[in-house]
Amino acid sequence: MRIFSGIQPTGDKHLGNYIGGFRQYAATQELGEAFFCIVDLHSITVDYEPRDLHDRTLDLYAMLVATGLDPERSTVFAQSHVTAHAESSWLLSAVTSYGQLGRMTQFKDKSERRDFVSAGLFTYPVLMAGDILLYQTDRVPIGDDQRQHLELSRDIAERFNARFGETFVVPEGIYPEVGARIMDLQEPTRKMSTTGGSEQGTVRLLDETDVILKKFRSAVTDSGREIRRGDDKPGITNLLDIFSVATGKPPGQIEVEYEHVGYGQFKSDVGEAVAAMLAPVRERYLELRADEGELLRLLALGADKARAASAPTLRRMYERMGFVHLG
Ligand code: AMP
Ligand code: TRP
Repeated sequence: MRIFSGIQPTGDKHLGNYIGGFRQYAATQELGEAFFCIVDLHSITVDYEPRDLHDRTLDLYAMLVATGLDPERSTVFAQSHVTAHAESSWLLSAVTSYGQLGRMTQFKDKSERRDFVSAGLFTYPVLMAGDILLYQTDRVPIGDDQRQHLELSRDIAERFNARFGETFVVPEGIYPEVGARIMDLQEPTRKMSTTGGSEQGTVRLLDETDVILKKFRSAVTDSGREIRRGDDKPGITNLLDIFSVATGKPPGQIEVEYEHVGYGQFKSDVGEAVAAMLAPVRERYLELRADEGELLRLLALGADKARAASAPTLRRMYERMGFVHLG
């Protein structure tokens, strides 16, 4: 089975990204032949700093490896290093409906808040379809917010197959289970995020142990004193979910173990568990990030493997569409 996912090299990564994203990538790597693509071409569709793009691509590569991807076994690479991605995007635009692109909620949301709306922001989902289809992908692990884009990729694959002959596998999404939404520790009714959240309520993957402990100790809890999950207890529910991931114990078991424990002790135990889970990630990350030569070597290895895997599909696309082949 082929697995493909794309990750944007933007923003500081946080505990929510780890639990809902990085951890799933490492787990899906076990399902078959996996491709993980740092989608640097996607990140130029909104205003950005060229210097930051360079550094963030290397940051993300180091984080993907630090959180468990094995670059020898899986293919981990940057999109811009494999020109098939940009090429397939143009070819697929011939079978993409202009009307359907205009109905993408992410495009509508992002274009509303800007003075300058790039054409790339509009055609972004076509590039994403190419990413997936070039690898004859069976399964795509993604967040719920990407569901509409994946549906569009499936439509594009089906239209191409119908118009030019069977060429692509029609991919299916793998979505995180319910509860895979980590909330801000200070405002547990909103998602943890480095762009919209509170500073004290967002645990960054590179926070030092004492900073992590402090953030958990000051986490907002709910009225009452029982440690249990419930709609009326967003703060405690979030902490239980996080504790469950960090310890591998089901939330129900933790509720039983903490029946007679106060909020203060509970919060500091959650903090300790998270700090212990993240310390080796941070260490490995810093070690990898310090060695740019090694990162470039790994990026080149990923690019070679991705070029080899995508080339046959790209060639078939050109042929089926009727372009002259020079032999
Ligand atoms: P982003 O950096 O916001 O584009 O998110 C990248 C990935 O991290 C998403 O596809 C989600 O799977 C995951 N993610 C981001 N924020 C959270 C959160 N608060 N809780 C759980 N998963 C998250
Ligand atoms: N659009 C995705 C996001 O914002 C990133 C992405 C690009 C992607 N290409 C992909 C995800 C292909 C899965 C498969 O998160």
